[in-house]
Amino acid sequence: MSSVASQQRVLSGMRPTGRLHLGHYHGVLKNWVKLQYEYDCFFFVADWHALTTSYEDPRGIEQSVFDMVVDWLAAGLNPNSCNMFIQSRVPEHAELHLLLSMMTPLSWLERVPTYKDQQEKLKDKDLATYGFLGYPLLQSADILIYKAGLVPVGADQVAHVEITREVARRFNHLYGREPGFEEAVESAITKMGKKAAKLYSDLRKRYQESGDDEALATAQALVHDQQNITLGDKERLLGSLEGSGKIILPEPQALLTEASKMPGLDGQKMSKSYGNFISLRELPDDVDAKVRKMPTDPARVRRTDPGNPDVCPVWQLHGVYTDDATRQWVQQGCRSAGIGCLDCKKPVIDAINAELEPIRARAREYENSPEVIRNILNQGSEQASAVAEDTLRDVRAAMGLSYR
Ligand code: TRP
Ligand code: SF4
Repeated sequence: MSSVASQQRVLSGMRPTGRLHLGHYHGVLKNWVKLQYEYDCFFFVADWHALTTSYEDPRGIEQSVFDMVVDWLAAGLNPNSCNMFIQSRVPEHAELHLLLSMMTPLSWLERVPTYKDQQEKLKDKDLATYGFLGYPLLQSADILIYKAGLVPVGADQVAHVEITREVARRFNHLYGREPGFEEAVESAITKMGKKAAKLYSDLRKRYQESGDDEALATAQALVHDQQNITLGDKERLLGSLEGSGKIILPEPQALLTEASKMPGLDGQKMSKSYGNFISLRELPDDVDAKVRKMPTDPARVRRTDPGNPDVCPVWQLHGVYTDDATRQWVQQGCRSAGIGCLDCKKPVIDAINAELEPIRARAREYENSPEVIRNILNQGSEQASAVAEDTLRDVRAAMGLSYR
């Protein structure tokens, strides 16, 4: 695929952490489900990434992969609308990672904020490893190998997309200059026709001489719109605009996923390690029990004490799950002690159960048919491999490594 078509490709990955919860659903999965109908989506299980922190005991990964994919499907990812696969089934990720590692300055990796942060946070693990330092570069390989244009990630991962852009730029700069590049560009310009050719040259000059971003954008649009030139020529023309060579690995953009408003049962961020979650396969009675046990405004000791929703985690759930009328009823009833906390929790319990109903049903279907999951992942891996192999062929050729 060319950098021209890559604009429409979305890629994202998730470490296999096992069964997912409502935090994952509202934070990530709901967004993926929407994107699969708008873009050419590739979603993968980042099992090698799991090894960067769990290398001492990797045995749990297999079950976690299976459980997570069941939950992806349960949440509404549709194998006919997106491509789901496992990273380690496409070994080209590792080859590209290795090739990129040769030209990536150490300082770029040491500078990534998660590097020091995670080492601090996971103090009980020895993360002074080569693999852990290199993990953002593995992520770059994950993205670049599919020439993805858009990468949906949370704020904590934006730095990884940024380093991916730098790595792509460096790669294109080092290896994008095929012999005779300038001549090939000139001949491509001629093929656009007189008018477009002149416009292209003027815009390129304006961008290169005065950094006029609008000129760059207009010129890019002009190239994209050309009907009569090959994709190879389009890539040369796009590369020449920015003064690089041919664009072999297009730079991706982060598609920032809004932070989830979904709090945990204690008002902190919902997380497996805090034990404050509702899983996607939680049974109705357990949802009921968990929400009933939620802490409320600590000042509301007795039913007759008025409360303050602002300091109550249940109120945050109303923000996710109930309508204006219900919320008004809560505000009024809580502050006047007109309603009890169990009354207040009831509409939340009902809404969560209504949301989980179809998810639970799909999960039940899939967890009983491991062969269906296997088929979906096999098919996904095949499609992913086809793209990855194409990219690697271009990459090897650009580096002069096609002598095999
Ligand atoms: N590093 C990501 C995380 O920990 C997962 C991931 C791996 C990823 N490769 C990716 C996300 C490529 C987006 C694109 O959440
Ligand atoms: Fe919280 Fe609702 Fe109880 Fe008020 S009435 S303290 S908002 S649970």
